[in-house]
Amino acid sequence: MDFCLIFSAFSIFSFLAYHTSIAADTLTPNQNLTDGQTLVSSNQIFELGFCSPANSGRKYLAIWYYKLPLTVVWVANKDKPINDSSGSLTVSLNGSLSVYNGSMAIVWSTNEMIAGPNQIPIVLQLLGTGNLVVRKQDETDANNDYIWQSFDHMSDTLLPGMKLGWKLKTGTKNIITSWTSPDDPSDGEFTFSLDPPETPQLILRKGEQKLYRWGPFDGDRFSGSNELRNNTVFKPIFVSTSDEIYYTYETLADSTLVRSIVTSLGSIQYLTWRNSSQGWSIISELNRFYCDRYGMCGPYGNCYTDDPNCRCLNGFVPNSTQDWRMFSTLGGCKRRYNLNCSNGDGFVKYKPVKLPDNAVLWTNYSLDECRVECLKECDCMAYTIINALGNGSRCVVWLRDLIDLRDFPNGGEDLYIRMARAELDSIADSNRRRRIKVVIAITLSTACLLLFLAILCWYIIKRSKRRVEEESISMPIVHDNNSHKYYEEETLDEDLELPIFGLSTISDATDQFAFSNKIGQGGFGPVYKGELANGLEIAVKRLSQNSGQGVREFKNEVILIAKLQHRNLVRLLGCCIQGEERVLVYEYMPNKSLDNFLFDRVKRKLLPWERRFSIILGIARGLLYLHQDSRLRIIHRDLKTSNILLDSDMNSKISDFGTARIFGGEQTEEKTRRIIGTYGYMSPEYAMSGHFSVKSDVFSFGVIVLETISGRKNWGFYDPEHDYNLIGHTWKLWNEERSLELVDEMLDGSFSVNEVMRCIQVALLCVQQRTEERPLMSTVVFMLSNENVELPQPKEPGFVTENSPFKIDSSWSGQDSNTGNQITITAVAGR
Ligand SMILES: *[C@@H]1O[C@H](CO)[C@@H](O)[C@H](O)[C@H]1NC(C)=O
Ligand SMILES: *[C@@H]1O[C@H](CO)[C@@H](O)[C@H](O)[C@H]1NC(C)=O
Ligand SMILES: *[C@@H]1O[C@H](CO)[C@@H](O)[C@H](O)[C@H]1NC(C)=O
Ligand SMILES: *[C@@H]1O[C@H](CO)[C@@H](O)[C@H](O)[C@H]1NC(C)=O
Ligand SMILES: *[C@@H]1O[C@H](CO)[C@@H](O)[C@H](O)[C@H]1NC(C)=O
Ligand SMILES: *[C@@H]1O[C@H](CO)[C@@H](O)[C@H](O)[C@H]1NC(C)=O
Ligand SMILES: *[C@@H]1O[C@H](CO)[C@@H](O)[C@H](O)[C@H]1NC(C)=O
Ligand SMILES: *[C@@H]1O[C@H](CO)[C@@H](O)[C@H](O)[C@H]1NC(C)=O
Ligand SMILES: *[C@@H]1O[C@H](CO)[C@@H](O)[C@H](O)[C@H]1NC(C)=O
Ligand SMILES: *[C@@H]1O[C@H](CO)[C@@H](O)[C@H](O)[C@H]1NC(C)=O
Repeated sequence: MDFCLIFSAFSIFSFLAYHTSIAADTLTPNQNLTDGQTLVSSNQIFELGFCSPANSGRKYLAIWYYKLPLTVVWVANKDKPINDSSGSLTVSLNGSLSVYNGSMAIVWSTNEMIAGPNQIPIVLQLLGTGNLVVRKQDETDANNDYIWQSFDHMSDTLLPGMKLGWKLKTGTKNIITSWTSPDDPSDGEFTFSLDPPETPQLILRKGEQKLYRWGPFDGDRFSGSNELRNNTVFKPIFVSTSDEIYYTYETLADSTLVRSIVTSLGSIQYLTWRNSSQGWSIISELNRFYCDRYGMCGPYGNCYTDDPNCRCLNGFVPNSTQDWRMFSTLGGCKRRYNLNCSNGDGFVKYKPVKLPDNAVLWTNYSLDECRVECLKECDCMAYTIINALGNGSRCVVWLRDLIDLRDFPNGGEDLYIRMARAELDSIADSNRRRRIKVVIAITLSTACLLLFLAILCWYIIKRSKRRVEEESISMPIVHDNNSHKYYEEETLDEDLELPIFGLSTISDATDQFAFSNKIGQGGFGPVYKGELANGLEIAVKRLSQNSGQGVREFKNEVILIAKLQHRNLVRLLGCCIQGEERVLVYEYMPNKSLDNFLFDRVKRKLLPWERRFSIILGIARGLLYLHQDSRLRIIHRDLKTSNILLDSDMNSKISDFGTARIFGGEQTEEKTRRIIGTYGYMSPEYAMSGHFSVKSDVFSFGVIVLETISGRKNWGFYDPEHDYNLIGHTWKLWNEERSLELVDEMLDGSFSVNEVMRCIQVALLCVQQRTEERPLMSTVVFMLSNENVELPQPKEPGFVTENSPFKIDSSWSGQDSNTGNQITITAVAGR
């Protein structure tokens, strides 16, 4: 926790000096522990005493790490801090613990005690695990038979060995509760628990609301979680017996300190102490991704890590197409064909997914019965067979709509979903068609091969005959046909100066468009990495088919685009046209795209502020060239961080420009019915009505700038304090004059405040709701590169939340909007 480190900077020394350890790890009923005295575990890892987190001045009885900067792992009197240093702890003969304040009022106490009048001597001990226990004096901790233990009363920390789960006999449940804030350990809004005991899942709730969920357990992991698996630092353990059922973990090396916490902002983290940096570092964070959030895609929606995040399962369509177009996917999907329980429903197997919520364990059914029984039960929407209790395969079913699914290709579980007869028929149909196609293809190719061999034989025979007859004949040219020229390998068409590649060259270079070579997915088709026979690395964009364009038309467009050359644009090297296939060949950028760096915890550190600023400037210049300075006027229409590539010197280059134009030739029109683009980057007018202009690119540029500054995504942005996306969040911070809080913490405070503020302001100008208020790229470049220009005040941005594009809290817009009149920019960067 950050505060501990901050705290340590100025107070750890006084803190250590001030505490005097009782030099023992036990306290007996006739002793008391006053503020200033501590118990230290025998292995010298944990310490118990009174402390004041973040120097709040309020005192709590707590356990923390001995010798480390104050890092509290457990708190007794969470809700009732002691106002001064007069607190004391006693253990009474009957085994109950009490904390008193200066006037001997009880601030905190426990109820557990030993039964009966003949009381046995007891002792309070701080164990090496960080567990504070009350036990019988003559019993060691061997059998875990404690009268009371702090591990049963968790705070925000799960230490190795703590059991998150249920004691089935007593029905008691151990959960983690976040602190209210880093200096206030009273119960916060977030709880993390293992629920329900019948089909255990890990759930993070905010109040009653499920925010994140992983499960059920499948024998190896909680479904949908990659982080909670065996790793080099700790080993997660799930135990299910008739007495108890819990999740816990153990460290793999005794000398490493690991703890897991739920922060006051609701993030679940595993941290480990690093001797080298003398600080806690995060080894994993469970709830990090868009798809981790509960039910983002609604019932029967499946969440993907790439765009678009939400898609309906096969056989389902958006419940409300209108809503989905407005990015509101919470309504989920509905069946294409309705079920009819009495008329031949069946099951379809889906590719590995994170299993949905509300699983029910049918322990009394065998595996064979599982499918049959689920089919009989009309409400049974899906079933699967998993090792849910860790001791053998079980039948698991879902008795209501399937929610919170996620695409999980590596490590997900198969799911069998109930489908209507009509859907099964259509699947069978398409399978049959596919089989027929395969058969035809095999037959045809065999026939072709035979024909080819026949011709070859004939030719060889003829040639040898001729050679015998006529010694001096030269080799005949077989396909001497002009129109064929385009399909030849790497022909350079003189008047066009654009290499046309043969499909076989491209196919060889990319290993037949192998999936492993796929490096991206653009609005018009996938992009592959390839290597030509001469060693040159290329990026190959395979346009999706049905462009409806003729060869000549397509070629003309490509040639125009190829003539656009600027240091901030990716170079088009050539194209390939063959049959239906349309392929564009670009220079390959070894550092891949900006999003690769920005949204990666580790790689983000490779982008210091100066680099980010020059990347932003580069994008602005490239875009200005596209909009104004080139002979064509190109509107990109799908500008996003994954379309910003980085060369080996980390210069930014825009890619995928002009594709819309090549593809449809619709570029000159003002409105299009085919909306390409990416959630989070599309301007409101484009997303809602298909209107596009250079100003829609300006909007996307603004989003990219905000993402570059913050290292966070606009789409999928999550802040526990509000529902706004990154744009909304920035606008909120701007109006509260807290803009610098937006800056990526990985920058560690080293950046030019002036440049950052300028970029934020420019970005806010770019994402303004009204198109006419947004600046042109020429103005943007001017504003970014001139330090002394006074910038106009931004007005309300568009799309401030994910789900309701136009909702905006009016309290923010209270700022005087007349300040916009002070526009002082008169000079506009010339051509
Ligand atoms: C604890 O000890 C201090 C000093 O020895 C004494 O003043 C105080 O009353 C004791 N508190 C309890 C609860 O016994
Ligand atoms: C601390 O002070 C506050 C008000 O100043 C009071 O309400 C509270 O009861 C005190 N707490 C204790 C434990 O003395
Ligand atoms: C246990 O002992 C303490 C102190 O002697 C007393 O305050 C408490 O009420 C006792 N608890 C029970 C249930 O008897
Ligand atoms: C102890 O707590 C009681 C009740 O909360 C309060 O009335 C009293 O003032 C506190 N004493 C001190 C010294 O804080
Ligand atoms: C987990 O990893 C540790 C060491 O990396 C290994 O010893 C142990 O067998 C693994 N456990 C499982 C269940 O894979
Ligand atoms: C598996 O665990 C469950 C729950 O703990 C228990 O009821 C069941 O008997 C166990 N089954 C086997 C085969 O051990
Ligand atoms: C860190 O340092 C402490 C004491 O200096 C030592 O006991 C411990 O083994 C070290 N941990 C690791 C992982 O090296
Ligand atoms: C799907 O749409 C219908 C009406 O269009 C509505 O009644 C229903 O609640 C929607 N379902 C969900 C899950 O939003
Ligand atoms: C379901 O199928 C049965 C038998 O074919 C038919 O009689 C019934 O009307 C169907 N129900 C619905 C709701 O379509
Ligand atoms: C299995 O359990 C369910 C619910 O507990 C019950 O309705 C069903 O009859 C049981 N089936 C068998 C075969 O015991």
